[in-house]
Amino acid sequence: MSSFADFQNEIYLAGLSGAVPGLPMTAAGLERRAREVLDPAAYAYVAGSASAERTAAENVSAFDRHRLLPRMWRGASNPGARDLSVEVLGTRLAAPVLTAPIGVLGLLHERGETVVAEVTRELGIGMVLSTAASSTIEEAGAAAGAWWYQLYWPGDHELARSFVDRAVKAGARALVVTADTPGIGWRPRDLELGHLPFLRGEGLANYLSDPVFRAKLATAPEESEEALRMAVLTWIGLFGNHTLRPADIAKLREWTDLPIAVKGVLHPDDARAVVDAGADAVVVSNHGGRQVDGAIAALDALPAIVATVGDRADVLFDSGIRTGSDVMVALALGAKAVLYGRPWAYALGVAGRDGVRHALRLLLADFDATMGLSGCATVAALDRTLLSSKR
Ligand code: FNR
Repeated sequence: MSSFADFQNEIYLAGLSGAVPGLPMTAAGLERRAREVLDPAAYAYVAGSASAERTAAENVSAFDRHRLLPRMWRGASNPGARDLSVEVLGTRLAAPVLTAPIGVLGLLHERGETVVAEVTRELGIGMVLSTAASSTIEEAGAAAGAWWYQLYWPGDHELARSFVDRAVKAGARALVVTADTPGIGWRPRDLELGHLPFLRGEGLANYLSDPVFRAKLATAPEESEEALRMAVLTWIGLFGNHTLRPADIAKLREWTDLPIAVKGVLHPDDARAVVDAGADAVVVSNHGGRQVDGAIAALDALPAIVATVGDRADVLFDSGIRTGSDVMVALALGAKAVLYGRPWAYALGVAGRDGVRHALRLLLADFDATMGLSGCATVAALDRTLLSSKR
């Protein structure tokens, strides 16, 4: 039985005594509130995308080309009849939603990753923990329920292996290798503020705590500002990996038995190459439009990738999910689960733990209620027959 939609009853009941939610009830509202209250550099870091931000906008508007065709008489509107749970890459989730890996959450909250870990655990959904986190793999992993580790494969295989070993030891249930970020996209909002958090030592917790990384430093980074500067320079030399190839997925396969997903794939041939190399899943994503402006909307890339590798690998999706019906459309087009990004990050900055909980419950309740009203008692009911799509 699914109870996410109870959020609605909770709010209306509280409304009888005059209480209203202190936080906006839409993703757009959360973004507006974040713009009003966050430090401008933190807001720009989350909101910013590449160049003219056309792809970021297109990620959202692509959902307008699809409409649901709700069905009646299926008994799905009764919450007791609904079960939104799924198993993806061996991980059981109460709904087909994981928080997307978002780096440097310390910009938004001092316990950013831990808070997201705790809330996703409470709600029974997944969390994908970023390599570029402000907390270590071990700290965040200890607080999380079902979590996967996102690997920015550094330009040093020994360091990559160390990250993977740490994630396995800390209890990650799958690995997500991000393919679309051999370097950082051209992001005018951050450029205007001259703000790249990593250069200030932010978002480097996993590097600074890593024995392989630390062995490359003459002085421990905590010893002085100069030592931290040297560590940052070392990070600069290691972050970008221009040699990552599908063959590295085969190498990763030898390092661990955990399921492997490759994130940031838009072309079916790229998806095929990594699945041929041993990946269990691909995440169709353009990084929220933060890398290549002018790239196609991630949603528009989804059907062809499902058609190409969907019989051999799980296809997941992110970039542009803002509502419950967006989750339904992505799943109806063949995604097994979605990664949810910016809205909860804004909410983290606005209201910490309560904010993340609010933002995630909001999406899940919208998804749950809309599933029920569309005649879908389980995610298995989501297929193309539920869509009326136009191009
Ligand atoms: C990201 N994303 C990201 N992806 C990744 O693999 N590792 C990371 O560390 C980050 N960091 C990150 C920071 C911020 C501030 C944002 C907004 C995004 C990309 C993220 O996982 C996901 O692909 C996008 O957020 C999806 O786009 P929307 O739906 O959030 O717009």
